[in-house]
Amino acid sequence: MNIEKVRTGFAEHFNGAAGAVYTSPGRINLIGEHTDYNGGFVFPGAIDKGMVAEIKLNGTDKVRAVALDLNETAEFGLNENDLPAQGWAKYIFGVCREIIKRGGKISGFDTAFSGDVPLGAGMSSSAALESVYAFALNDLFSLGIDKFELAKTGQATEHNYVGVMCGIMDQFASIFGKEGSLMLLDCRSLEHKYFPFSPAGYKLVLLDSAVKHELADSAYNKRRQSCERVAATIRQTHPEVAFLRDATMEMLNEVKGEVSEEDYMRAEYVIEEVQRVMDVCAALEKGDYETVGDRMYKTHHGMSKLYEVSCEELDFLNGIAKKCGVTGSRVMGGGFGGCIINLVKEELYDNFVKEAFRAYKDRFGHEPKLYDVVISDGARRLY
Ligand code: GLA
Repeated sequence: MNIEKVRTGFAEHFNGAAGAVYTSPGRINLIGEHTDYNGGFVFPGAIDKGMVAEIKLNGTDKVRAVALDLNETAEFGLNENDLPAQGWAKYIFGVCREIIKRGGKISGFDTAFSGDVPLGAGMSSSAALESVYAFALNDLFSLGIDKFELAKTGQATEHNYVGVMCGIMDQFASIFGKEGSLMLLDCRSLEHKYFPFSPAGYKLVLLDSAVKHELADSAYNKRRQSCERVAATIRQTHPEVAFLRDATMEMLNEVKGEVSEEDYMRAEYVIEEVQRVMDVCAALEKGDYETVGDRMYKTHHGMSKLYEVSCEELDFLNGIAKKCGVTGSRVMGGGFGGCIINLVKEELYDNFVKEAFRAYKDRFGHEPKLYDVVISDGARRLY
Protein backbone atom coordinates (compact mmCIF):
# COMPACT_ATOMS: atom_id res chain seq x y z
CA MET A 1 0.00 0.00 0.00
CA ASN A 2 1.20 3.47 -0.86
CA ILE A 3 0.80 5.04 2.60
CA GLU A 4 4.06 6.98 2.61
CA LYS A 5 3.47 8.27 -0.90
CA VAL A 6 0.08 9.61 0.16
CA ARG A 7 1.33 11.24 3.35
CA THR A 8 4.20 12.95 1.57
CA GLY A 9 2.08 13.93 -1.42
CA PHE A 10 -0.69 15.36 0.74
CA ALA A 11 1.76 17.47 2.76
CA GLU A 12 3.43 18.74 -0.42
CA HIS A 13 0.17 19.81 -2.03
CA PHE A 14 -1.49 21.23 1.05
CA ASN A 15 1.18 23.33 2.79
CA GLY A 16 2.57 20.66 5.07
CA ALA A 17 -0.83 19.75 6.51
CA ALA A 18 -1.78 16.24 7.65
CA GLY A 19 -5.25 14.71 7.55
CA ALA A 20 -6.88 11.39 8.36
CA VAL A 21 -5.74 8.41 6.27
CA TYR A 22 -8.05 5.64 5.03
CA THR A 23 -7.72 2.61 2.81
CA SER A 24 -10.10 0.37 0.91
CA PRO A 25 -9.07 -2.71 -1.10
CA GLY A 26 -9.61 -4.24 -4.52
CA ARG A 27 -11.04 -7.74 -4.71
CA ILE A 28 -10.77 -11.16 -6.24
CA ASN A 29 -13.75 -13.37 -6.93
CA LEU A 30 -13.47 -17.15 -6.69
CA ILE A 31 -16.66 -17.78 -8.65
CA GLY A 32 -20.01 -16.13 -9.46
CA GLU A 33 -19.39 -13.71 -12.32
CA HIS A 34 -22.12 -11.48 -13.77
CA THR A 35 -24.49 -12.99 -11.24
CA ASP A 36 -24.67 -9.99 -8.90
CA TYR A 37 -26.97 -7.81 -11.03
CA ASN A 38 -29.05 -10.94 -11.63
CA GLY A 39 -29.80 -11.24 -7.92
CA GLY A 40 -27.50 -14.28 -7.66
CA PHE A 41 -24.53 -15.31 -5.53
CA VAL A 42 -20.93 -14.17 -5.65
CA PHE A 43 -17.84 -15.36 -3.77
CA PRO A 44 -15.35 -12.48 -3.51
CA GLY A 45 -12.58 -11.60 -1.09
CA ALA A 46 -10.82 -8.29 -0.47
CA ILE A 47 -7.10 -8.23 -1.27
CA ASP A 48 -3.91 -6.64 0.05
CA LYS A 49 -3.91 -4.06 -2.73
CA GLY A 50 -6.09 -0.99 -2.56
CA MET A 51 -6.55 2.74 -2.55
CA VAL A 52 -5.14 4.95 0.18
CA ALA A 53 -6.61 8.43 0.66
CA GLU A 54 -5.74 11.25 3.04
CA ILE A 55 -8.47 13.78 3.78
CA LYS A 56 -8.74 16.99 5.74
CA LEU A 57 -11.68 19.36 5.94
CA ASN A 58 -10.78 22.73 4.40
CA GLY A 59 -13.60 24.96 5.70
CA THR A 60 -14.86 25.79 2.19
CA ASP A 61 -17.58 24.28 0.00
CA LYS A 62 -15.02 22.95 -2.51
CA VAL A 63 -13.16 19.69 -2.83
CA ARG A 64 -9.51 19.98 -3.83
CA ALA A 65 -8.24 16.57 -4.92
CA VAL A 66 -4.89 15.20 -6.07
CA ALA A 67 -4.48 11.93 -7.97
CA LEU A 68 -0.87 11.24 -7.00
CA ASP A 69 -0.36 8.36 -9.45
CA LEU A 70 -1.38 10.57 -12.37
CA ASN A 71 0.05 13.78 -10.98
CA GLU A 72 -3.26 15.54 -11.68
CA THR A 73 -5.39 17.84 -9.58
CA ALA A 74 -9.09 18.75 -9.65
CA GLU A 75 -11.25 21.25 -7.82
CA PHE A 76 -15.02 21.00 -7.73
CA GLY A 77 -18.07 22.02 -5.75
CA LEU A 78 -20.65 19.69 -4.26
CA ASN A 79 -23.69 20.65 -6.34
CA GLU A 80 -25.06 18.37 -9.03
CA ASN A 81 -23.84 20.64 -11.84
CA ASP A 82 -20.25 20.73 -10.51
CA LEU A 83 -19.27 17.44 -12.23
CA PRO A 84 -15.49 17.58 -12.79
CA ALA A 85 -13.93 16.79 -16.16
CA GLN A 86 -11.30 14.26 -15.07
CA GLY A 87 -12.47 10.65 -15.10
CA TRP A 88 -10.94 9.85 -11.69
CA ALA A 89 -12.47 12.95 -10.08
CA LYS A 90 -15.94 11.86 -11.19
CA TYR A 91 -15.70 8.95 -8.74
CA ILE A 92 -14.98 11.22 -5.78
CA PHE A 93 -17.63 13.72 -6.88
CA GLY A 94 -20.16 10.90 -7.40
CA VAL A 95 -19.57 9.51 -3.93
CA CYS A 96 -20.05 12.99 -2.42
CA ARG A 97 -23.28 13.47 -4.38
CA GLU A 98 -24.63 10.04 -3.44
CA ILE A 99 -23.90 10.72 0.22
CA ILE A 100 -25.67 14.08 0.00
CA LYS A 101 -28.65 12.38 -1.70
CA ARG A 102 -28.81 10.05 1.31
CA GLY A 103 -29.12 13.02 3.62
CA GLY A 104 -25.44 13.20 4.61
CA LYS A 105 -24.26 16.71 5.41
CA ILE A 106 -20.73 17.20 4.09
CA SER A 107 -18.58 20.20 3.22
CA GLY A 108 -15.35 20.89 1.34
CA PHE A 109 -12.15 18.92 1.93
CA ASP A 110 -8.61 18.53 0.65
CA THR A 111 -7.56 15.06 -0.39
CA ALA A 112 -4.77 13.12 -2.07
CA PHE A 113 -4.91 9.44 -3.04
CA SER A 114 -2.84 6.69 -4.57
CA GLY A 115 -3.49 3.04 -5.31
CA ASP A 116 -1.73 -0.22 -6.08
CA VAL A 117 -4.70 -2.15 -7.50
CA PRO A 118 -3.68 -2.84 -11.10
CA LEU A 119 -5.94 -0.81 -13.40
CA GLY A 120 -8.09 -2.71 -15.89
CA ALA A 121 -7.10 -6.07 -14.41
CA GLY A 122 -10.60 -6.97 -13.18
CA MET A 123 -9.64 -6.35 -9.55
CA SER A 124 -11.97 -3.39 -9.01
CA SER A 125 -9.71 -0.41 -8.65
CA SER A 126 -12.75 1.82 -9.19
CA ALA A 127 -14.74 0.20 -6.37
CA ALA A 128 -11.70 0.64 -4.13
CA LEU A 129 -11.66 4.35 -4.97
CA GLU A 130 -15.39 4.77 -4.34
CA SER A 131 -15.27 2.77 -1.14
CA VAL A 132 -12.33 4.59 0.38
CA TYR A 133 -14.17 7.91 -0.03
CA ALA A 134 -17.58 6.57 1.03
CA PHE A 135 -16.01 5.08 4.16
CA ALA A 136 -13.85 8.13 4.91
CA LEU A 137 -16.60 10.74 4.50
CA ASN A 138 -18.99 8.71 6.62
CA ASP A 139 -16.37 8.54 9.34
CA LEU A 140 -15.06 12.12 9.15
CA PHE A 141 -18.52 13.69 9.15
CA SER A 142 -19.95 11.13 11.62
CA LEU A 143 -22.86 10.42 9.26
CA GLY A 144 -23.82 7.03 10.70
CA ILE A 145 -24.45 5.45 7.28
CA ASP A 146 -24.40 1.65 7.57
CA LYS A 147 -21.93 -0.47 5.64
CA PHE A 148 -24.45 -1.75 3.10
CA GLU A 149 -25.50 1.77 2.27
CA LEU A 150 -21.84 2.74 1.90
CA ALA A 151 -21.41 -0.07 -0.65
CA LYS A 152 -24.55 1.10 -2.45
CA THR A 153 -23.19 4.64 -2.51
CA GLY A 154 -20.23 3.39 -4.55
CA GLN A 155 -22.47 1.32 -6.82
CA ALA A 156 -24.79 4.31 -7.41
CA THR A 157 -21.73 6.39 -8.27
CA GLU A 158 -20.96 3.93 -11.08
CA HIS A 159 -24.57 4.05 -12.29
CA ASN A 160 -25.13 7.79 -12.10
CA TYR A 161 -21.73 9.41 -12.66
CA VAL A 162 -19.65 6.83 -14.56
CA GLY A 163 -22.28 5.05 -16.67
CA VAL A 164 -21.52 1.44 -15.70
CA MET A 165 -24.66 -0.40 -14.53
CA CYS A 166 -22.65 -2.68 -12.24
CA GLY A 167 -23.90 -4.98 -9.50
CA ILE A 168 -22.97 -4.73 -5.83
CA MET A 169 -20.15 -7.29 -5.62
CA ASP A 170 -17.10 -5.05 -5.89
CA GLN A 171 -18.17 -2.35 -3.47
CA PHE A 172 -19.49 -4.97 -1.05
CA ALA A 173 -16.15 -6.80 -1.08
CA SER A 174 -14.18 -3.59 -0.66
CA ILE A 175 -16.21 -2.49 2.37
CA PHE A 176 -16.91 -5.85 4.04
CA GLY A 177 -13.64 -7.70 3.36
CA LYS A 178 -12.11 -9.79 6.13
CA GLU A 179 -8.57 -11.07 6.39
CA GLY A 180 -8.28 -14.72 5.38
CA SER A 181 -11.94 -15.06 4.39
CA LEU A 182 -13.91 -15.15 1.18
CA MET A 183 -17.50 -13.98 1.40
CA LEU A 184 -20.54 -15.71 0.02
CA LEU A 185 -23.00 -12.95 -0.78
CA ASP A 186 -26.61 -13.37 -1.82
CA CYS A 187 -26.97 -10.27 -3.96
CA ARG A 188 -30.75 -10.29 -3.66
CA SER A 189 -31.16 -10.45 0.11
CA LEU A 190 -27.62 -9.16 0.84
CA GLU A 191 -27.22 -11.97 3.37
CA HIS A 192 -23.59 -12.96 3.57
CA LYS A 193 -21.34 -15.47 5.17
CA TYR A 194 -17.57 -15.47 5.71
CA PHE A 195 -15.67 -18.55 4.53
CA PRO A 196 -12.13 -18.88 5.90
CA PHE A 197 -10.08 -19.69 2.81
CA SER A 198 -6.58 -21.13 3.05
CA PRO A 199 -6.60 -24.23 0.90
CA ALA A 200 -3.70 -26.33 2.18
CA GLY A 201 -1.36 -27.28 -0.66
CA TYR A 202 -2.85 -24.81 -3.15
CA LYS A 203 -2.14 -21.27 -4.25
CA LEU A 204 -4.38 -18.68 -5.86
CA VAL A 205 -2.53 -17.05 -8.71
CA LEU A 206 -3.67 -14.20 -10.89
CA LEU A 207 -2.25 -13.79 -14.37
CA ASP A 208 -3.00 -10.48 -16.02
CA SER A 209 -3.24 -10.60 -19.79
CA ALA A 210 -2.40 -6.88 -19.70
CA VAL A 211 -5.04 -6.20 -22.31
CA LYS A 212 -8.05 -3.98 -21.80
CA HIS A 213 -10.54 -3.95 -24.59
CA GLU A 214 -12.29 -0.79 -25.72
CA LEU A 215 -16.02 -0.42 -25.16
CA ALA A 216 -15.98 -2.77 -22.19
CA ASP A 217 -18.39 -0.52 -20.31
CA SER A 218 -21.06 -0.49 -23.00
CA ALA A 219 -20.64 -4.23 -23.61
CA TYR A 220 -21.13 -4.76 -19.86
CA ASN A 221 -24.35 -2.74 -19.88
CA LYS A 222 -25.57 -4.67 -22.92
CA ARG A 223 -25.09 -7.97 -21.06
CA ARG A 224 -27.18 -6.65 -18.22
CA GLN A 225 -29.94 -5.56 -20.59
CA SER A 226 -30.03 -9.05 -22.18
CA CYS A 227 -30.49 -10.60 -18.75
CA GLU A 228 -33.27 -8.18 -17.82
CA ARG A 229 -35.10 -8.81 -21.10
CA VAL A 230 -35.05 -12.57 -20.57
CA ALA A 231 -36.15 -12.27 -16.94
CA ALA A 232 -39.05 -10.03 -18.02
CA THR A 233 -40.10 -12.55 -20.68
CA ILE A 234 -40.03 -15.45 -18.23
CA ARG A 235 -41.90 -13.33 -15.68
CA GLN A 236 -44.94 -13.17 -17.96
CA THR A 237 -45.70 -16.81 -17.15
CA HIS A 238 -43.73 -17.11 -13.89
CA PRO A 239 -44.42 -13.94 -11.89
CA GLU A 240 -42.11 -15.10 -9.12
CA VAL A 241 -39.05 -14.58 -11.34
CA ALA A 242 -37.81 -11.17 -10.24
CA PHE A 243 -34.28 -11.84 -11.48
CA LEU A 244 -32.65 -14.52 -13.63
CA ARG A 245 -31.42 -15.98 -10.36
CA ASP A 246 -34.98 -17.22 -9.80
CA ALA A 247 -35.21 -18.88 -13.23
CA THR A 248 -34.46 -22.48 -14.19
CA MET A 249 -33.26 -23.90 -17.50
CA GLU A 250 -36.78 -25.34 -17.97
CA MET A 251 -38.26 -21.84 -17.71
CA LEU A 252 -35.66 -20.49 -20.11
CA ASN A 253 -36.47 -23.22 -22.62
CA GLU A 254 -40.18 -22.34 -22.43
CA VAL A 255 -39.38 -18.89 -23.83
CA LYS A 256 -36.69 -20.01 -26.27
CA GLY A 257 -38.76 -18.94 -29.29
CA GLU A 258 -39.50 -15.52 -27.79
CA VAL A 259 -35.99 -14.31 -26.99
CA SER A 260 -33.06 -13.74 -29.35
CA GLU A 261 -30.44 -16.43 -29.67
CA GLU A 262 -27.93 -14.08 -28.07
CA ASP A 263 -30.16 -13.30 -25.08
CA TYR A 264 -30.78 -17.04 -24.66
CA MET A 265 -27.05 -17.72 -24.44
CA ARG A 266 -26.53 -14.94 -21.90
CA ALA A 267 -29.33 -16.27 -19.70
CA GLU A 268 -28.12 -19.85 -19.99
CA TYR A 269 -24.72 -18.77 -18.70
CA VAL A 270 -26.22 -16.90 -15.73
CA ILE A 271 -28.57 -19.70 -14.68
CA GLU A 272 -25.69 -22.19 -14.77
CA GLU A 273 -23.32 -19.82 -13.00
CA VAL A 274 -25.69 -19.31 -10.07
CA GLN A 275 -25.71 -23.09 -9.59
CA ARG A 276 -21.92 -23.31 -9.89
CA VAL A 277 -21.49 -20.93 -6.94
CA MET A 278 -23.64 -23.26 -4.84
CA ASP A 279 -21.60 -26.26 -6.00
CA VAL A 280 -18.37 -24.50 -5.03
CA CYS A 281 -19.69 -23.68 -1.55
CA ALA A 282 -20.66 -27.29 -0.93
CA ALA A 283 -17.29 -28.47 -2.26
CA LEU A 284 -15.32 -26.01 -0.13
CA GLU A 285 -17.08 -27.22 2.98
CA LYS A 286 -15.72 -30.69 2.21
CA GLY A 287 -12.29 -29.47 1.15
CA ASP A 288 -13.00 -30.85 -2.32
CA TYR A 289 -10.84 -28.57 -4.46
CA GLU A 290 -11.15 -30.74 -7.55
CA THR A 291 -14.85 -29.79 -7.79
CA VAL A 292 -14.03 -26.13 -7.09
CA GLY A 293 -11.54 -26.21 -9.96
CA ASP A 294 -13.90 -28.04 -12.30
CA ARG A 295 -16.54 -25.33 -11.81
CA MET A 296 -13.96 -22.61 -12.40
CA TYR A 297 -13.12 -24.13 -15.80
CA LYS A 298 -16.83 -24.40 -16.59
CA THR A 299 -17.29 -20.74 -15.68
CA HIS A 300 -14.49 -19.82 -18.03
CA HIS A 301 -16.09 -21.80 -20.82
CA GLY A 302 -19.46 -20.11 -20.20
CA MET A 303 -17.94 -16.64 -20.02
CA SER A 304 -16.08 -17.30 -23.25
CA LYS A 305 -18.69 -19.08 -25.36
CA LEU A 306 -22.08 -18.03 -23.95
CA TYR A 307 -21.59 -14.70 -22.23
CA GLU A 308 -18.81 -13.72 -24.65
CA VAL A 309 -16.80 -11.60 -22.24
CA SER A 310 -13.46 -13.39 -22.64
CA CYS A 311 -10.89 -12.68 -25.35
CA GLU A 312 -8.19 -14.51 -27.24
CA GLU A 313 -5.49 -13.70 -24.68
CA LEU A 314 -7.53 -14.95 -21.71
CA ASP A 315 -8.65 -18.08 -23.53
CA PHE A 316 -5.02 -18.74 -24.36
CA LEU A 317 -3.93 -18.43 -20.71
CA ASN A 318 -6.81 -20.64 -19.64
CA GLY A 319 -5.66 -23.27 -22.17
CA ILE A 320 -2.11 -23.16 -20.79
CA ALA A 321 -3.47 -23.63 -17.27
CA LYS A 322 -5.35 -26.72 -18.36
CA LYS A 323 -2.28 -28.12 -20.13
CA CYS A 324 -0.16 -27.57 -17.01
CA GLY A 325 -2.62 -29.47 -14.81
CA VAL A 326 -3.84 -26.38 -12.92
CA THR A 327 -6.85 -27.36 -10.78
CA GLY A 328 -9.09 -24.41 -11.70
CA SER A 329 -8.75 -21.40 -13.99
CA ARG A 330 -11.09 -18.75 -15.32
CA VAL A 331 -11.43 -15.16 -16.42
CA MET A 332 -12.13 -12.96 -13.39
CA GLY A 333 -14.32 -9.88 -13.03
CA GLY A 334 -16.30 -8.21 -15.80
CA GLY A 335 -14.07 -9.64 -18.55
CA PHE A 336 -13.03 -8.14 -21.91
CA GLY A 337 -9.38 -8.38 -20.81
CA GLY A 338 -7.84 -8.33 -17.37
CA CYS A 339 -6.93 -11.42 -15.35
CA ILE A 340 -7.45 -15.11 -15.10
CA ILE A 341 -7.63 -16.50 -11.58
CA ASN A 342 -6.02 -19.90 -11.07
CA LEU A 343 -6.23 -22.42 -8.25
CA VAL A 344 -2.99 -24.32 -8.57
CA LYS A 345 -1.31 -27.06 -6.53
CA GLU A 346 1.85 -25.73 -4.92
CA GLU A 347 4.04 -28.31 -6.62
CA LEU A 348 2.79 -27.24 -10.07
CA TYR A 349 3.07 -23.50 -9.44
CA ASP A 350 6.62 -22.87 -10.72
CA ASN A 351 6.17 -24.82 -13.89
CA PHE A 352 2.80 -23.24 -14.63
CA VAL A 353 4.07 -19.70 -14.21
CA LYS A 354 7.19 -20.40 -16.28
CA GLU A 355 5.22 -22.03 -19.05
CA ALA A 356 2.52 -19.34 -19.08
CA PHE A 357 5.13 -16.58 -19.37
CA ARG A 358 7.02 -18.37 -22.12
CA ALA A 359 4.02 -19.35 -24.22
CA TYR A 360 2.21 -16.01 -23.81
CA LYS A 361 5.28 -14.06 -24.88
CA ASP A 362 5.79 -16.34 -27.90
CA ARG A 363 2.22 -15.77 -28.97
CA PHE A 364 1.50 -12.14 -28.07
CA GLY A 365 4.95 -10.56 -27.91
CA HIS A 366 4.79 -9.56 -24.23
CA GLU A 367 4.59 -11.34 -20.92
CA PRO A 368 1.49 -11.48 -18.73
CA LYS A 369 1.77 -9.99 -15.25
CA LEU A 370 1.72 -12.15 -12.15
CA TYR A 371 -0.01 -11.17 -8.91
CA ASP A 372 0.13 -13.06 -5.67
CA VAL A 373 -2.73 -11.85 -3.52
CA VAL A 374 -3.44 -12.13 0.17
CA ILE A 375 -7.08 -12.07 1.31
CA SER A 376 -7.32 -9.01 3.53
CA ASP A 377 -9.56 -6.63 5.48
CA GLY A 378 -12.03 -4.19 3.96
CA ALA A 379 -12.26 -0.38 4.24
CA ARG A 380 -10.70 1.11 7.37
CA ARG A 381 -9.00 4.12 8.87
CA LEU A 382 -5.20 3.83 9.09
CA TYR A 383 -4.30 7.06 10.91
C1 GLA B 1 -17.71 -5.94 -12.60
C2 GLA B 1 -18.89 -5.32 -11.87
C3 GLA B 1 -19.50 -6.27 -10.84
C4 GLA B 1 -19.76 -7.64 -11.44
C5 GLA B 1 -18.55 -8.14 -12.23
C6 GLA B 1 -18.82 -9.42 -12.96
O1 GLA B 1 -16.64 -6.12 -11.72
O2 GLA B 1 -18.52 -4.12 -11.24
O3 GLA B 1 -20.66 -5.72 -10.30
O4 GLA B 1 -20.91 -7.63 -12.24
O5 GLA B 1 -18.08 -7.18 -13.17
O6 GLA B 1 -19.09 -10.43 -12.08
